[in-house]
Amino acid sequence: MGLRLKFNILLIFTFLIGISIAGVIAYKILEQNAEEEVNQLAGVMMSSANAMRQYTIRQIKPLLVAQQKQSETFYPQTVPAYAATQTVGIMQKKFKEYREFSYKEATINPTNPDNRASSWEEDIIRWFRNQPATVAPKRGIRQTPNGPYMYLSSPIRITNQACLGCHGHPDNAPLAMKAKYGSVNGFGWKINQVVGAQIVSVPMTVPFARAQKTFATFMGSLIGVFIFVAFLLNIFLNTFIIKRIKRMSSIANDISLGTGQSKEFVIKGTDEVASLAKSFNRMRRSLTSAMDMLEETTGNFTRLQ
Ligand code: HEC
Repeated sequence: MGLRLKFNILLIFTFLIGISIAGVIAYKILEQNAEEEVNQLAGVMMSSANAMRQYTIRQIKPLLVAQQKQSETFYPQTVPAYAATQTVGIMQKKFKEYREFSYKEATINPTNPDNRASSWEEDIIRWFRNQPATVAPKRGIRQTPNGPYMYLSSPIRITNQACLGCHGHPDNAPLAMKAKYGSVNGFGWKINQVVGAQIVSVPMTVPFARAQKTFATFMGSLIGVFIFVAFLLNIFLNTFIIKRIKRMSSIANDISLGTGQSKEFVIKGTDEVASLAKSFNRMRRSLTSAMDMLEETTGNFTRLQ
């Protein structure tokens, strides 16, 4: 096996190990970043829904309560769940990048049927029912036909007696509300009960596709750099080592066969091969003069006889 082949096998072997380690680390980091990005988006979405709820309770509801009484109509605009859901709905319709996002106040027995929990949402609500009141928001990834979605969810626990004014017994609920929503759904909730969960869903396809593209570019450039470095190293190996050694070996060969005695190996530089060439030349000269001396002695000897 030639030096070049050995060197290239070693180079490829080292590169394969290096690229595999770099690839695994890069993929993990990019995947983590993509997940972090989705996480943050879900967090922002949840915070804005909560801000909308607070705004409704503090600023909208007090303004509309009097009007509601006067006109004997129920304004759903006073309901925080309605305000938050509507706001996110507008976001979805208006901005292309949020089209796949969703926010739902998923409830097992909802006042508005649009808020009815689907089966996976119901699982989350039931999971929250078995947790202490201080439980942290639940995150998870869900596979759907449209790709993976991350959900972020917080329980809706009835901690305020005032909620039961509309969600307790139907007899106690405002007439205007019952006229709009009926007296069957969204009642019978109990204090301290987890009735539902706020669930934000964020698609993961776009950030993950972006991460994969970055990964491909990174690996592509790594391979490009390797090919360039391997090319340069091969030129170096060829010029400074292989070519010189081949020449030296051919001169040595000639000398051993008794031809090319006068050939000098001319090599510039101070590297190891140059110093080997110098030693080689010295040896060749010594050998030639030794041979000359030997020839002379033998010649004299024959003449003497
Ligand atoms: C004035 C009556 C009223 C009060 C008080 C009230 N709600 Fe509601 N709530 C409603 C109505 C009406 C809806 C349906 C709104 C819609 O159309 O989406 C609703 C919807 C909800 C929803 C969404 C699921 C569903 O039932 O459709 C949740 C969750 C909720 N309310 C929780 C609460 C909590 C918690 C409180 C107490 C802090 C509370 N509500 C107080 C009237 C009320």
